[in-house]
Amino acid sequence: MAEKMNAGLVPTRALYTGERIPCIGLGTFGSDKYSPEQIAEAVYGAIKFGYRMIDCAAVYQNEDKIGEVLRKVMREGVVKREELFITSKVWNDMHGQGKVMESCKKSLADLRLDRIDLYFVHWPFPNYHAPGCGKDARNPDSRPFSVEEFMAAWRQCEELVDKGLVRYIGMSNMTIPKLEAVLPLCRIKPAALEMELHPSFQQPELFDYAVAHELLPIGYCPIGSPSRPERDRTADDVADGELPAITAAARAHGIHPALVCLKWAVQRGQVPIPFSVKEPQYVSNLTCVTEDPLSEEEMAAIEKEDCNCRLVKGQVFLWEGANGWEDLWDVDGSRAAWKAE
Ligand SMILES: NC(=O)c1ccc[n+]([C@@H]2O[C@H](COP(=O)([O-])OP(=O)(O)OC[C@H]3O[C@@H](n4cnc5c(N)ncnc54)[C@H](OP(=O)(O)O)[C@@H]3O)[C@@H](O)[C@H]2O)c1
Repeated sequence: MAEKMNAGLVPTRALYTGERIPCIGLGTFGSDKYSPEQIAEAVYGAIKFGYRMIDCAAVYQNEDKIGEVLRKVMREGVVKREELFITSKVWNDMHGQGKVMESCKKSLADLRLDRIDLYFVHWPFPNYHAPGCGKDARNPDSRPFSVEEFMAAWRQCEELVDKGLVRYIGMSNMTIPKLEAVLPLCRIKPAALEMELHPSFQQPELFDYAVAHELLPIGYCPIGSPSRPERDRTADDVADGELPAITAAARAHGIHPALVCLKWAVQRGQVPIPFSVKEPQYVSNLTCVTEDPLSEEEMAAIEKEDCNCRLVKGQVFLWEGANGWEDLWDVDGSRAAWKAE
């Protein structure tokens, strides 16, 4: 096992309360490829090495195994509970009245925690797809975004904070029109916005919007998710690791292109949550953000590689009558695809 690094060397980012969290975390979605046991073992190794933030979700179907290792690292004295920042997310089929609490309690029990640090609404729709489903899977109950339905789920998240079950709440897979509609209605504001962010998909407007509203951007698929499931692949997808500015920086620094993506993410200001079960990968993913930064020129060249290449299009969440995955993302900036209320 790699020698542990000093977790204090990892830079931090501020939440709106002033509390600081690590500038990088470990993802735990196995892309239907890695088992819960493999992922839990990686979480164990990663925390022992120096990771302090772990991005979990009920739908990843591994919180129970991750909970075992969280208990283990604390029992072994590797970390204290307050040194860890653990996130989880309510899945789309648990937005109904009373269901968010039920889901959160299940995650708490699985993770062996009294409190989750940051709890996300995973998607702003109650639209379900079975774990491991294919590209063409559709659920007849799926429906368009509704402010009222979303806020009903958010109110339940606020109650989780009131009851002390979670410390912060967050949103994920949102758009500016959706945030504009719901933020003024929140009694407890979101602390973070989890969103797809990698060099070929930088979402500059949404990123700036999040920063301006003190929602810390947490970037998923930071390496371009090279192992993502088939349902999230299309012929036009760009491989981030092959972008000229990424390969040039990788050559200049003598590192893997994946690490250039992570350095870029941290230097830009988002919190990337790269996934890996391979020790050399998750070790270098953490250490790379503490040394040998990209130059201003390299950062500027990578900024120019943005080509709006969304990987997680979410087509499995589409409803009857939807035009296509673009309807999930309000791409024309309008509310045309929402439920009329
Ligand atoms: N909120 C949401 O809706 C949402 C959606 C998607 C993901 N997420 C979260 O974001 C996390 C990260 O996204 P992701 O797992 O899709 O994509 P990712 O982190 O961009 O890519 C992970 C893959 O990159 C490869 N990799 C990792 N480190 C590497 C290194 N140092 N060198 C070379 N290759 C490396 C590994 O491929 P191999 O395994 O093939 O080696 C790994 O499986 C997820 O695990 C999950 O926690 C959230």
